[in-house]
Amino acid sequence: MFSIKNLLNEAEKEILLSKNTYELNLARSKFLGKNSYLNKIIKKMHLISLKDRSYVGKLINTIKYDITNIILKHKIRLEKKILERSITNEKIDITLPGRSISIGGLHPITSAITDINYFFHKLNFINIPGLEIEDNYHNFDALNIPINHPSRNPQDTFWLNKKILLRTQTSSIQIRYMKHKKPPVRIISFGKVYRKDYNTTHTPMFHQMEGLVIDYNINLLHLRNIIYEFLKFFFSEKKIVRFRMSYFPFTEPSMEIDIMNNNNWLEIIGCGMVHPKVLKNLNINTKIFSGFAFGLGIERLVMIRYNINDIRYFFKNDLRFLKQFK
Ligand code: DAH
Repeated sequence: MFSIKNLLNEAEKEILLSKNTYELNLARSKFLGKNSYLNKIIKKMHLISLKDRSYVGKLINTIKYDITNIILKHKIRLEKKILERSITNEKIDITLPGRSISIGGLHPITSAITDINYFFHKLNFINIPGLEIEDNYHNFDALNIPINHPSRNPQDTFWLNKKILLRTQTSSIQIRYMKHKKPPVRIISFGKVYRKDYNTTHTPMFHQMEGLVIDYNINLLHLRNIIYEFLKFFFSEKKIVRFRMSYFPFTEPSMEIDIMNNNNWLEIIGCGMVHPKVLKNLNINTKIFSGFAFGLGIERLVMIRYNINDIRYFFKNDLRFLKQFK
């Protein structure tokens, strides 16, 4: 019994001598671990007479409890020492300016999309999400684009297989949406489109917005007025604008809209009256309904808004460029 009692003193001495957590752990396993003296006694408890057994049991528990406490206290002492040492060793220069947190801003394309959406939302257009991975039916066939049209060429378009592609235009939303809806409709849709192009005015991915209105007695004047008002709103000033006759397989007549920018005409919108063939593909009665559609290149609009001369800046993640728009 004497040696059990002595054990506490011995353990305390050794624990207090340990200089770091490694040594402390060694002491812990020596006095409380599997091969410790205490554990050996516990294993032999059945050899102790019944009379003494509860006394020895209680004694062992008390000693274990005491040793654990000593270890815990010493551990706190050691940790405090480590902290104090690091505080005295590390010399902090409190005169250094603090680290400032810089707050991010919206990408100019995102702000433009928000502005455009605001304008059309006020005119009761609903914003419809589209698919970036499309099939040839929605991207080409249903839009009356002939089978040998150059835009279907693998040199211009990212085909994923013979039928599936990264959409080349948001116009596919016209088909996707109208398949399940009946006129009258007023929708817009924003999104990324993909074409194999790379230079100062083209990137393989860019953003478009599609607009579609189908209703009773819709005519070109409605289209013209909406576009005029939109451009005034977007640029906060009256720009010189021209409507130029053009050709798209899904509109008749078709037009492109150019804006005068730095003495150059810049094409920004394709539009027209929805082609009767497209309306027929959508089971819309062309005797009752007509519509107009337009597709707008968002990067182009933002380039004019801020006088940016290379579209590739938008996608370089160069903070010096992006911070200008905060
Ligand atoms: N989808 C055409 C393009 O990417 C733009 C366009 C032209 C959209 C005429 C239209 C439209 O909705 O009616 O070049």
